[in-house]
Order: sequence, then C-alpha cells, then structure tokens
Amino acid sequence: MEKMQGKKVSIIGAGNVGATVAYSLAMNGSCHEIWLRDRNPDISMGKALDMSQAANVARTHTVVKVAHEASDMKDSDIVVITAGSPRKPGMTRDDLLMINAEITKEVVADVKKYAPNSIIIMVSNPLDVMTYVALKESGFPKERVVGMAGILDSARMAHFIFEKIGYGAGQIRASVMGGHGDTMVPLPKFSTVAGVPLADVLTKDEIEEIVERTKHGGAEIVGYLKTGSAYYAPAKATAIMVEAILRDTKQIHPCAVYLDGHYGYSDVVSGVPVALGANGVEKLFEMSLTDEQKEQFAHSVDSVREMIDVLKDKKFFA
Ligand code: NAI
Ligand code: 2OP
Repeated sequence: MEKMQGKKVSIIGAGNVGATVAYSLAMNGSCHEIWLRDRNPDISMGKALDMSQAANVARTHTVVKVAHEASDMKDSDIVVITAGSPRKPGMTRDDLLMINAEITKEVVADVKKYAPNSIIIMVSNPLDVMTYVALKESGFPKERVVGMAGILDSARMAHFIFEKIGYGAGQIRASVMGGHGDTMVPLPKFSTVAGVPLADVLTKDEIEEIVERTKHGGAEIVGYLKTGSAYYAPAKATAIMVEAILRDTKQIHPCAVYLDGHYGYSDVVSGVPVALGANGVEKLFEMSLTDEQKEQFAHSVDSVREMIDVLKDKKFFA
C-alpha cells in the first residue's frame, strides 16, 4: 500500500471511535504521525503506546503520540473530532445536542488556533449539527469541514442487503443520503448487487424491511453493547475519508457537508455524495431525485435545521 510521508493527523477524542480510527490508519501506514488528544491523558498514553507498538508489529512507519497540549496538534493536515458522549440505550442522538455542541465548540477553538489550514472530519453526534457547529466555530471554508455518516449508513444497508440474499458480499453498493438520524434517506433505487438493481433480487417488502433496519442501524448495535455505540464500522468509514484526503484520490463518498443552495437548501448540513481530495470536499454531486425521495430528503434536512435552530435560540453561536 502507498505510504504517506510527513502527514500529520490529529484525533480529538481517543475513545472507542477515535482510537479505532487511529489503529486503522496506523496499520495501513496511512500517515507519518497520529496525535491523540483526550481529556483523559492516561487513556491516550496507554493507547498511543500500544498502537505505536502494533505499528512495529505491522512494520509500518506510523507513530502514535499524545497531544498533552492543544499546541501539539500544530499544523495537522487533518483533525478528526470524535470527542463527546456516546449514545446510550434509550438516549436519542438529539439528546446529545447541547453537551456535544459545547464540547465541539471548545475543541474546534484549538483546531482553529493551532491547525488553521487543516481539514476537519467531524464524527461526534448529532453528526450533521456538529458538522455545522464545527464549520461556524472554525470559520473554515465549507470545503474543509466534512462529517462522517453516509459511508457508514450505506455500508450498514449493504450488509443488511447481503443478510437478506446471502450472496454478493463485497459486491453490494447501497446508497443513503440525508442526515445521520432516524430521518436518513436510504435509496434502494440507487442500490445494486454487482450491478443488478435491488428490485430485481428482493421483494418490495424485503426492501422496505432493509430500509427501516438501516435507519435504526446504530440503535441496533447500542441495544447489544448497552454501554456504548458502534465503533468498528464508524472508525473504518472515517479512516476511508482520511485516506481519500491524504492520498488526494478524488473518490466519491456520501458525506455530511454544508449545503449552499444545493438541492435547494442553504445554511444547513446534510449527507450527499461528494468527491474527497487534498482540498477536502472538491465536488458536490446533485442527484436527480424522485418526488418521494425529495420529500424524504426535505424531512431529513428539516430535522437537522430544527436542531440548529435550538442552538440559535439558545444563542449558542456568537
Ligand atoms: P467514547 O465515549 O468511547 O469516546 C469519546 C471520547 O471523547 C472519550 O474518551 C472522552 O474522554 C473524550 N472527550 C470528551 N470530551 C472531550 C474534550 N472536551 N476534549 C477531548 N476529549 C474529550 O465515544 P465513541 O464511541 O468513541 O463515540 C464518539 C462520538 O462519535 C459520540 O458522539 C458518538 O455518538 C459519535 N459517533 C458518531 C458516528 C457517526 O456515524 N457519525 C458513529 C459512531 C459514533
Ligand atoms: C451510530 O450510528 C451512534 O451514530 C452512531 O452507530
């Protein structure tokens, strides 16, 4: 695999998702340095040491360090933000709104100060709103603030399709747009199994079951883990975004980005297909949607806007 020399990735929040992103990048040798920053420095120390040693096992050159001071993140190429509280059973993503908005505001101030040219990849929930908060608080151009959710939600849908048909693992391309929440918009009409349209391999009822399961894919895992939420697939999805940017691949992925007139919406964040490269979000693709898809997308955008309005009403933004 191609190795990236001299690239620095900082990860704020070295919990389940943040540490697993670091591990994935370190095992691929995707960057030169990874800096973990967490409000619990001992946990970060232990994980950084363990991962640096794992990188030696894997014979990659990535070094994992601890950012004891915010200034240790200086000149990072990418900053991944996973700091926050995970969703617990019975807790909706929206419950996390205020607590995670304050955390995001605090850590983004550090990013703005020490890594003003970085690209921010937001992961903390509620994802679309936190991406909006990171954009507004950083003052970065919209191309340099991007949220992770669509890759995860699409992968979940692809897995559920596989579970239904039992064939085609790794050949299923599922498509999901909209916010990362119960109003997300799975797009079965844009999903295929090795190029074969979904409607040709599954019944309408089966597809509907997959759509509903996808919308609640995160909660299903919380229900099993009980004390936290999913992290392997979320971390891999985040690492894919980091690598697309570091390697300037221009790969197209569904990501949460600021809409500025796109799809008819402005001043809001939602998940749409974008090309990721060295400059962050390099192109946003506007798909032709059916009336039903448009209606679902509108509902999803509205639910994100409602949360942004809550923050605005509380005078969260200066
Ligand atoms: P976790 O609880 O394992 O890790 C969060 C870490 O953030 C903790 O280590 C905590 O000490 C740290 N932290 C909290 N405030 C901080 C601050 N001010 N500065 C530095 N570190 C701070 O949680 P997990 O499972 O890693 O999830 C992290 C976030 O990602 C949650 O908000 C979760 O809901 C979200 N998430 C989003 C997904 C998505 O698709 N966008 C998927 C999975 C999780
Ligand atoms: C998930 O979808 C909790 O948003 C997180 O797993």
